[in-house]
Amino acid sequence: RLMNEIAGINVMEEAVRDKLGVKKVLIVPGNSDDSPWVKEELGRAAVKSMKACVSDRTIIAVTGGTTMSAVAGMLTPDFASPDMLFVPARGGIGEEIQNQANVICATMAQKSGARHRVLYVPDQVSREMYESIMKEPSINEVMGLITSASIVLHGIGDAATMAKRRNTSEEDLQTILEGEAVGEAFGYYFDVHGKIVHKVKTIGLQLKDLASIPNVFAVAGGPSKANAIQSYFKGAPHSSSTLITDEGAAKELLKGT
Ligand code: BG6
Repeated sequence: RLMNEIAGINVMEEAVRDKLGVKKVLIVPGNSDDSPWVKEELGRAAVKSMKACVSDRTIIAVTGGTTMSAVAGMLTPDFASPDMLFVPARGGIGEEIQNQANVICATMAQKSGARHRVLYVPDQVSREMYESIMKEPSINEVMGLITSASIVLHGIGDAATMAKRRNTSEEDLQTILEGEAVGEAFGYYFDVHGKIVHKVKTIGLQLKDLASIPNVFAVAGGPSKANAIQSYFKGAPHSSSTLITDEGAAKELLKGT
């Protein structure tokens, strides 16, 4: 029976991979919408597959969110060398402190014995403020580190959930609703066709940068994220992406195929 289940998961991984056009798909058993421990399993699977592509001086750019926080929880000192570096992928995008990439990078560094850098950018800045922040040498240095990352690790969120969870302005909320966004990642909101309908203005990694990153790991589970996952991969460069998801999301993704 166990063998059958494993075979079943392998078949699903290939079907989801073909559907999304990503490099690789890993599916953990269960449904993280219903069972919180499944998110920990996603974290464990993410750590395991990332470990295969880290070397001494690898830079990993990371986003925020509860799933990334679960990945952080699974890191151990044997993951990295002390010269490895975790950096936030993008500046402030309106998350609560425990969900912020800065905090998650600090935890990842602490748990794995590696280093981390922070990127402090206020959430809603004027154009003038934004331009002067970009000239700040310390910010500039972190920006350089982000663009030389060989691994990007990120979450994918349901658009409405993310817009509500962040302190999104009325005006932006309207744009997101009217644009019928279903998915979100890196502060970009996508509709079902993968079209970007809104983008949170902040510094750091831009979506197009993903095309030149050798290893991108997307971690997102639960049937409630199936549409989000699909919209994201329609809109974002994804040929070097590995999706780490759960059975719940995978089954929903494969419905009607
Ligand atoms: C955010 C990321 O912090 O987490 C988003 O910036 C992502 O891009 C979201 O969509 C996912 O959150 P969670 O809690 O569902 O893992």
